[in-house]
Amino acid sequence: MSADLVHPGHLNIIKEGTKLGDVVVGLLTDKAIASYKRLPYMSYEQRRIVIENVKGVARVVPQTTLDYRPNLRKYKPDFVVHGDDWKDGIQQETRKQVIDTLAKWGGKLVEPRYTKDISSTALNEALKEVGTTPQLRQGRLHRLLKARPIIRGIEAHSGLSALIVEHAQVKHGGVRKEFDFIWISSLTDSTLKGKPDTELVDLTSRMGTVADVLEVTTKPVIFDGDTGGQLEHFPYTVRTLERVGVSAVIIEDKTGAKKNSLFGTSVAQVLADPKEFARKIRAGKKAQVTANFMIIARLESMIAGKGVKDALKRAKIYIDAGADGIMVHSKEKSPAEVLEFCRAYKKFKKRVPLVAVPSTYNTITEDELQKAGVNMVIHANHLLRSAYPAMVKTAERILMHNRSKEADELCMPISEILTLIERKGRAS
Ligand code: SPV
Ligand code: MG
Repeated sequence: MSADLVHPGHLNIIKEGTKLGDVVVGLLTDKAIASYKRLPYMSYEQRRIVIENVKGVARVVPQTTLDYRPNLRKYKPDFVVHGDDWKDGIQQETRKQVIDTLAKWGGKLVEPRYTKDISSTALNEALKEVGTTPQLRQGRLHRLLKARPIIRGIEAHSGLSALIVEHAQVKHGGVRKEFDFIWISSLTDSTLKGKPDTELVDLTSRMGTVADVLEVTTKPVIFDGDTGGQLEHFPYTVRTLERVGVSAVIIEDKTGAKKNSLFGTSVAQVLADPKEFARKIRAGKKAQVTANFMIIARLESMIAGKGVKDALKRAKIYIDAGADGIMVHSKEKSPAEVLEFCRAYKKFKKRVPLVAVPSTYNTITEDELQKAGVNMVIHANHLLRSAYPAMVKTAERILMHNRSKEADELCMPISEILTLIERKGRAS
């Protein structure tokens, strides 16, 4: 079991087990759970403590895979007790494997009736409504990185777009897919405010957006910290972000008036002296008060036309300075230079999680990036970029027709917007 939210269904299974012998619970690890659904609210250790103390449980053992066979072979139980809900659906195959494996030593599968009216999914939704605390939220990014080979995030620039990131879900091949974290992009945050992405929107204003996002979500948040500002100011930024429960800041090794990376060398992109930038990372690390806050160093070498070698050299310096992650950036149409970086990065003795932002080289898939060694993918600007053309079209159609009737087909129904927030939940 996952046993994140223990309910009478779990207790019934355990009770049925006690009628047969000593009950050993195979408790799914964070990694095993995260391979097919959302990371549990409680860590494995916390869940273990709960289950160990449930009446009738003799022992708890880690279940590290969704395949039950390795544990069955290890413990050779006389009985496996599992709710009968896995007779159809995606777990059918696992069930058959359990029966076949048990048969090897004469073991039996016992299937109590699944306890109806209790759905972990519904309980999870209810928990989301309760919201989260800054501390809980902040720690989740670290846990996710440990539990999954690769995690994905997308930008949000407002409460509404953040609600989309919180709730967007698709089912694909029996696996529920959603975004793991929220990216507070300086590009979309600035654009939304009608300002250029040149660090003109100050921290106070950026924190307003962060507050709007935090208020309606539970997922971890990563803040685009641009260059991190002046060395003396960066420690304050770190503390401000930590205080509200942001999990990480990414700062880029550029200096002077910052220009968006996707301009590439068509504008002056001035790289920071790597030693100077390393001092900024150190100052941030020294200032942080929570254990798991991450300072991720972003390499702009390829953006400034200085190549992969320069990026690799800098990555080493920043890791030595204490960077908790490295973000490699490129504005090429092809992923070739990013992949070249990844190949060399794999050989580093000291490695930290690797972040990629495939905005221009977006023919590459998350799976391919994972194979290359990337741990975190950021879809950095797509919600705002898709909203803007839709708004322009609507505005033009109203102008063209002297009324809004013709724009109706481009808009969500009024009845839908009236209840949208209510349906999505206030606190997510
Ligand atoms: C952002 O989203 O603001 C970024 C990524 O910094 S990029 O726009 O590609 O520079
Ligand atoms: Mg930015």
